[in-house]
Amino acid sequence: MTEPHRPLAVVTGASSGIGLALARQFSNHGFDLVVAARGPEIHAVAERLDAEGVEVDLATPDGVRTLHQHLRHRPVTVLALNAGITARSDDLERELELVDLNVRSLVHLARLVTDEMRARKRGRVLITASIVEAFPGPHQAAYNASKAFARSFGISLRHELREHGVSVTVLEPGATDTPIFEKADQETTILGGAMPKDDPADVAEQAFEALMAGRETVVAASITSKATHLVSRLLPDAVTARVTGLLTKPR
Ligand SMILES: NC(=O)c1ccc[n+]([C@@H]2O[C@H](COP(=O)([O-])OP(=O)(O)OC[C@H]3O[C@@H](n4cnc5c(N)ncnc54)[C@H](OP(=O)(O)O)[C@@H]3O)[C@@H](O)[C@H]2O)c1
Repeated sequence: MTEPHRPLAVVTGASSGIGLALARQFSNHGFDLVVAARGPEIHAVAERLDAEGVEVDLATPDGVRTLHQHLRHRPVTVLALNAGITARSDDLERELELVDLNVRSLVHLARLVTDEMRARKRGRVLITASIVEAFPGPHQAAYNASKAFARSFGISLRHELREHGVSVTVLEPGATDTPIFEKADQETTILGGAMPKDDPADVAEQAFEALMAGRETVVAASITSKATHLVSRLLPDAVTARVTGLLTKPR
């Protein structure tokens, strides 16, 4: 594969929310783009951003392989592993889909693409975790666990790849104003409803800066989100679980 003039960024979960804002960041900074999501809206997003859109279910191994096939023709400079869902603890089917997407596909796509980056000795990876990695999540138990996995996996990957010229950054957004809660039927919770939320554009801007600076982690975007993360890391799990449970309990 020859290295073209413009770098290529691949963003998963780019049809809305943080992924869409990340895609805009890459587009504004002169990257060519491949954007992926499950629904057909991704094609309209791709058209607006002059990108290649891939409609694919990344919760399946075949979906991951299909997206990877689309990346065969050009080296990937940046891989933003962002697609994710949340799930209520009373919805087993969705919890299992969450594990397939937030955990399984994260490992699968990361390994496929970073093997190639490692061979070329260059590349950057952004993994969207969450500040909820720092505490248990009653009523959305699999979600918080999946984000603890994403952070740990991302930092380990960083240390595996650093000597091979590949940088990995873990993004930890706080509560952000996106459709994620509505999609999981969580608008009746305090977290999904009344709680103030960050702007996805601010999250993406801080993520882009941290990624290009080669930072290990970035907590984004507001002071409230950064403080929540810091305090959560200091408090015992029994306390954070109790407080989180109040915010995430369906009413
Ligand atoms: N919003 C927050 O408060 C918050 C906070 C911390 C971290 N995060 C994380 O940020 C990331 C983006 O979430 P968001 O808040 O921006 O939510 P969002 O607006 O719902 O975006 C999720 C994206 O993932 C895609 N997606 C979902 N299931 C998929 C599948 N099976 N295959 C391929 N793509 C799929 C969605 O596409 P379709 O709509 O077409 O399915 C959409 O593009 C997630 O990893 C989330 O956990 C969010």
